[in-house]
Amino acid sequence: MTEKKLTGKVAMITGGARGLGRGYALRLAGLGADIAVVDRNLRSAEVYKFEKQQMTADTVVEECRALGVRALGMEVDLTNRAANEKSVADIVARMGHIDIAICNAGGGTVTFADEREPEKDASGKPIEGRMVDLGLTGTPADCPQHMLTRVLNNNLMTCMYTCMAVAPYMKAQKSGKIVTVSSTAGIQASPGYHPYGVAKAAIIHYTRSLSLELAPFNINVNCIAPDIIRTGRLGDRSQLAAMIPLGREGTIEDCAKVVEFLVTDLSDYITGKIIAIDGGRCDQR
Ligand SMILES: NC(=O)c1ccc[n+]([C@@H]2O[C@H](COP(=O)([O-])OP(=O)(O)OC[C@H]3O[C@@H](n4cnc5c(N)ncnc54)[C@H](O)[C@@H]3O)[C@@H](O)[C@H]2O)c1
Repeated sequence: MTEKKLTGKVAMITGGARGLGRGYALRLAGLGADIAVVDRNLRSAEVYKFEKQQMTADTVVEECRALGVRALGMEVDLTNRAANEKSVADIVARMGHIDIAICNAGGGTVTFADEREPEKDASGKPIEGRMVDLGLTGTPADCPQHMLTRVLNNNLMTCMYTCMAVAPYMKAQKSGKIVTVSSTAGIQASPGYHPYGVAKAAIIHYTRSLSLELAPFNINVNCIAPDIIRTGRLGDRSQLAAMIPLGREGTIEDCAKVVEFLVTDLSDYITGKIIAIDGGRCDQR
């Protein structure tokens, strides 16, 4: 039987409607936590076949309830600071407290798949799983303003606003676990894929600063930096396995297991740390 070590805890997962965020929500629900999924689109899984095929209910909220926990969903654009504060206040009002925040909302895309017309092949059939976002972001010397604003807002500002919104509640209760989500793109610099790498690097710096401020309140703040992880948005990248020491692309479960570690008592003495989930690809020297 799975140990229900998070029974009685309330976890907020931003961007939890699909992909990695869904994996974190289900993992923590499986450990007994009550779940609040906050996402700009609670049905965002519908736009990718890979995501849709895995769903066992219409939304992640319903999937969590099926695991026997309380779950609520909120459709919120987290680039708005006041909306973050209201979401957290609503979670506390409806669920009593907030113990865990997984700041997962983000992604490299300039436009989300659910905001654009699906790309079609010559026969008019929608093409699934294109890595279009890799090519569409800017470079350090040439990044259009709309990309800068959008990518920094969706990744860095959503993360900072959520942390700032949960901090007063966690400080008052003198406990909490916060997990921020960077990327190996925030650890290793490259000329492309900007400003995503910049946003994710800033999340690492922010995590370290925040962890120092919140440590006296018994709040752990740590960061995960996934590398090549199979989700619907980025598609199948198994062809890159040869450059990964462990010989395969990562899975959502690989990341969810690390999140479990960071939100349970297993990591009570760890704060301000960055954990790359990369099969050994980064930090080789
Ligand atoms: N998949 C990977 O290989 C990978 C690698 C490194 C880092 N990451 C990071 O992990 C996180 C999740 O990645 P994913 O592949 O599951 O992405 P995804 O696009 O499948 O899911 C992201 C979710 O966040 C939501 N979201 C985005 N912006 C939002 C906003 N402003 N307000 C509210 N909700 C918002 C989306 O609606 C979506 O449901 C992202 O932060 C991403 O940068 C992913």
